[in-house]
Amino acid sequence: MLLEIKDLCAGYGAAPVLHNVSLSVDSGETVSVLGANTAGKSTLLRSISGITPVRRGSIKFDGHELIDMNGKDIPKLGIGHVPEGRHVFPKMSVVDNLWMGAFCKRKDKKLAERMDGIMQMFPRLRERASQLAGTLSGGEQQMVAIGRALMSNPKLLLLDEPSHGLAPVVVDEVHEAIVRIAKSGVAVLLVEQNAALALQVASRGMVLQSGHAVLEGTAAELAANPDVRKAYLGI
Ligand SMILES: Nc1ncnc2c1ncn2[C@@H]1O[C@H](COP(=O)(O)OP(=O)(O)OP(=O)(O)O)[C@@H](O)[C@H]1O
Ligand SMILES: [Mg+2]
Repeated sequence: MLLEIKDLCAGYGAAPVLHNVSLSVDSGETVSVLGANTAGKSTLLRSISGITPVRRGSIKFDGHELIDMNGKDIPKLGIGHVPEGRHVFPKMSVVDNLWMGAFCKRKDKKLAERMDGIMQMFPRLRERASQLAGTLSGGEQQMVAIGRALMSNPKLLLLDEPSHGLAPVVVDEVHEAIVRIAKSGVAVLLVEQNAALALQVASRGMVLQSGHAVLEGTAAELAANPDVRKAYLGI
């Protein structure tokens, strides 16, 4: 397994947010985590990236134990994080936002090639290369945030609610982008409230409820589960 999380307990103050969460992602695999507001989805991704303190458990990535590591060293191992709310640099151009994503790989000789690959994946970003990111539409900003994370050539991409707040047609574009990224061999851990999207792109999934992993299975099993259908698919 590329990523193996075991019995993870993590949180901010006195009360933990995540309770004994275990989850794995294989190389090149796409796994989705579903959950309502405050379930702990972002906390899970932030624990992997070393942003949220871990109290107990283990997060192994590509042979490294992440919970003992300084958070600033984690991106270098090959983990790209697309944060909730995108957080593009509004006063910087599209191209400069993308360069920022290569910050941890400054000596990499293939950066220009990678930038070109990202522009091919998102032709809209090439058209708007010099536009300030703060003036882009929500969907375009999402493309910038994803492209920025891809500039570090990650083995694993963490995607935090990429469809949030986007119009349905733009959600379709994000969907296609995730499929293309997965096809290029990058493993994806996607957290979403949009269960339909999450279960279409993933091979496996987990449902997080109040910090507990309450359901796990293949995407097909979850999509057929009556509780998931009622709570997350509105069926
Ligand atoms: N920096 C923080 N300090 C203290 N508590 C926090 C912090 N960030 C999140 N929390 C709390 O942790 C819990 C889980 O939050 P988290 O953001 O992980 O949920 P989520 O599933 O991502 O929700 P959403 O769907 O709204 O993004 C919430 O109760 C939240 O208030
Ligand atoms: Mg969140």
